[in-house]
Amino acid sequence: MTSRIPTIAALLALGCALLAGCERPPMDSVQHGFRGTGMVQVYNPRHLDTQDALNTVPPAPPPASPDGPRAKASYQNVQVLGDLSAGQFIGLMTQITAWVSPKEGCAYCHNVQNFAEDSKYTKIVARKMIEMTRHINGNWKNHVAETGVTCYTCHRGNPVPTNVWFTPLEQDKRADFIGDLAGQNTPAPLANMSSLPTDALTPFLLEDKPIRVNGPTPLPSGNRHSIKQAEWTYSLMTHMSTSLGVNCTYCHNTRSFQSWEGSPPQRVTAYHGIRMARDVNNEYMVPLTEVFPVERKGPGGDVAKVSCATCHQGAYKPLYGFPMLKDYPELASVTAGKK
Ligand code: HEC
Ligand code: HEC
Ligand code: HEC
Ligand code: HEC
Repeated sequence: MTSRIPTIAALLALGCALLAGCERPPMDSVQHGFRGTGMVQVYNPRHLDTQDALNTVPPAPPPASPDGPRAKASYQNVQVLGDLSAGQFIGLMTQITAWVSPKEGCAYCHNVQNFAEDSKYTKIVARKMIEMTRHINGNWKNHVAETGVTCYTCHRGNPVPTNVWFTPLEQDKRADFIGDLAGQNTPAPLANMSSLPTDALTPFLLEDKPIRVNGPTPLPSGNRHSIKQAEWTYSLMTHMSTSLGVNCTYCHNTRSFQSWEGSPPQRVTAYHGIRMARDVNNEYMVPLTEVFPVERKGPGGDVAKVSCATCHQGAYKPLYGFPMLKDYPELASVTAGKK
């Protein structure tokens, strides 16, 4: 009898160790789909508290007057923001500093002896970032709507946004005694520490590989629609769920994952989001590769890239949908500020 006590104690300890990976109750759940479809969102209220702090938006300054001389007339080297009034221009510089480099100040991008000089790489990057932000707000309304984005959406007071990604180096199979990991089978932070492929972002948010499980042909010759390739789709989906802090049923009716008819409208928004992230990475981030110093680049020398998490940071809408853009019309589109 007594010999059983250590066994029971060991079992209890094992049970506790296994459950340590689970989240502590109570959890909140909210109905999301039609009644009877089992489409509920499960929230951990304690995570929501951390989220609240992350999603508090700094107060907007009073709008600057659009009148007066243009910035391109007042300054020497203004290539993108030239049509703003000088007041709007300096107002935006102040905001950019608060959003991107609050500790370092104007000197993060400028030689403060000569603001016109383009000697710091950060200024070149920032100029491209202004164009990128306007492009997202003007041309990707099917994703960002009128809510829009500002530098703060991604940066939140950090020069390097908290959630960026690089393409990992290929496994050196000859040097590694554990054999071919096939790009997976190790805990992948991107796939919520599962054994799914460690890098589902390169094929889908940089390249344009099909995000499908069922293929149109029976044989998988060179085609990514196979059970094996399905894991890449699942890895991307796991990234999307964790980036938004939602379950799969936020975008799918699990009766049929493919069916668009049965899916909530959020899936369509997500569809455009995938294309938007791909576009931003190829048109704005990759062309900046040579501008960044080596310590900012990934193991293979690639540039930091944008994923769903770069903007969303665990919220179903970045900043819980706070329409920040309306206070900063300078970032709205290419024509903003024009008279
Ligand atoms: C994150 C980078 C960044 C920070 C921080 C920043 N700027 Fe700028 N600044 C730029 C960029 C980019 C341009 C060029 C814009 C263009 O080409 O349209 C610019 C241009 C200027 C110019 C025009 C200079 C000329 O003659 O061409 C002035 C003046 C200026 N900034 C002032 C400031 C001040 C003052 C601060 C601090 C409150 C500041 N900037 C902070 C990126 C930055
Ligand atoms: C969609 C997300 C996103 C938005 C919006 C965004 N950025 Fe960035 N930014 C990035 C990423 C990704 C990087 C690359 C990270 C790195 O520097 O290693 C970056 C890098 C930078 C850097 C270089 C920092 C460094 O130390 O290397 C500057 C400066 C910058 N952004 C300024 C801006 C400004 C100014 C705006 C608004 C006009 C802006 N960004 C809007 C995603 C964004
Ligand atoms: C934010 C919305 C969103 C979330 C959350 C989401 N998905 Fe998806 N899912 C999509 C979109 C959009 C597509 C289609 C992608 C495309 O075609 O570009 C898709 C496609 C799929 C497909 C491929 C269907 C086919 O046509 O073969 C599967 C399977 C799938 N998702 C499973 C999941 C699973 C499992 C989860 C939870 C881990 C999940 N999804 C979470 C939006 C979402
Ligand atoms: C450039 C920043 C940015 C990136 C990158 C981004 N989103 Fe969004 N997303 C937004 C904004 C802003 C909204 C809010 C739009 C609105 O208010 O309707 C949004 C809304 C959504 C919604 C609608 C939520 C709802 O409840 O209606 C979904 C779903 C979504 N995003 C999925 C994604 C997915 C999946 C990715 C990655 C493939 C992604 N987003 C990448 C900025 C971004």
